[in-house]
Amino acid sequence: MEPLQIPVPGERTSQTIRRFRDEGGPVVPIELPGKVHAWMVASYESVSEVLLNDGTLFSKNSRNCPAMHDGTIPPDWPLRQLVEGDHLLTKDGDDHRRLRGLINRAFTPARVAAMAPRIQEMTDGLLDGLAAEGEVVDLVRHFSEPLPIAVICELFGVPEEERYQLREWTNVLLFHTASPEQAAEAAQAMLGYLAAFIERRRAEPGDDLTTGLIQAQEDDGDRLSDNEMLWILWLVLVAGHETTVHLIANAVIALCAHPAQVPAADDQDSWAKVVEEALRSRNSVLNVMFRYPLEDVQVAGTKIPAGEPIVVALDGADTDPARYGADAARFDASREPDAHVGFGRGPHFCLGAPLARLEMRIALSALFGRYPGLRLAVGADEIAYTPSLITEGPMTLPVVLGPR
Ligand code: HEM
Repeated sequence: MEPLQIPVPGERTSQTIRRFRDEGGPVVPIELPGKVHAWMVASYESVSEVLLNDGTLFSKNSRNCPAMHDGTIPPDWPLRQLVEGDHLLTKDGDDHRRLRGLINRAFTPARVAAMAPRIQEMTDGLLDGLAAEGEVVDLVRHFSEPLPIAVICELFGVPEEERYQLREWTNVLLFHTASPEQAAEAAQAMLGYLAAFIERRRAEPGDDLTTGLIQAQEDDGDRLSDNEMLWILWLVLVAGHETTVHLIANAVIALCAHPAQVPAADDQDSWAKVVEEALRSRNSVLNVMFRYPLEDVQVAGTKIPAGEPIVVALDGADTDPARYGADAARFDASREPDAHVGFGRGPHFCLGAPLARLEMRIALSALFGRYPGLRLAVGADEIAYTPSLITEGPMTLPVVLGPR
């Protein structure tokens, strides 16, 4: 089978993934921008098989991918930092467990739970401002974008006036419309900013998670190195807002299309189900990159040679009719909760899942509680989505708030 090129001009990445799965099967050869040859696993079973491996068969470490280092994948390939940076997403086994263990010392469930009142306060503040924007409001600009940025930056102690720059860098890093030069420039600028920021926190410790990570220490005295600190912040600030920005907006679009599924504002159990269904059927993270087989492997009957990059299509898995039936793509919050892969699965399961779930629940219930008549101001097919292989959400979302 000839490799299928992705992205496809004029088609949303989620549609492309679903089409590749339906037409090509659970494992398809693909070509990414920059002529990078890869494989996409796109069914629930093939995705689960790859994700559940503990790193002994499918590695996250690019050293196990010859193409990364022999010039086949250009050194200035835009997504290189994501797949080659020195962070959690590029480590296997003990190296990965060590890093995650140290982060967990500081990023505890109690710290996440303690954020709830502040998230509510920040949400309410943004909702207060919405009505002043006029009859039609861009919900991305005024709500789904500022909220996750404010939450993650407050958690890590990034001052307000420095936050928007992080958003701009992240977009350049994740959009395939950015040139390799722009991506490299944004990546360097962000790392430079973060190195200086960590120094500032060292000199002036605060009550934030950056200080918590600087001070985190295992019983045997093991600590995070400067370089590890830098990359953790890089990953968490990128992964910790972009994903949530888009998932809030995707969930709003789904609820506007299915108003009967909007729960009562205080029915938090039902809101939790809305969040899970959004993660399953309207996820903001479509693909995760990469896994590299350590030997030639058979996945769902297809041979993938050792070292060739595998793109794991979460969206393909979570809308797979073989698992969810013929109406798999339909948003239906009354489905029985299921083990979707919206936050991944296995050793790299999303570190921020409890925070993202909390934030989503507060944001959506407060938004529809305040503006129960909220509806789209444009047709659903007029919405333009982010030009990204990895994340998907509307670029802008014009809504009418309706009576309060
Ligand atoms: C990992 C999705 C929010 C931090 C992941 C992975 C997925 C994911 C699918 C697995 C990647 C892989 O297997 O290669 C999401 C979604 C989110 C979200 C859909 C929101 C709706 C967050 C937040 C944070 C965060 C808020 C930060 C606080 C991370 C980190 C990892 C990760 C650090 C790497 C974990 C590891 O490799 O051990 N996320 N995420 N994410 N996420 Fe999230």
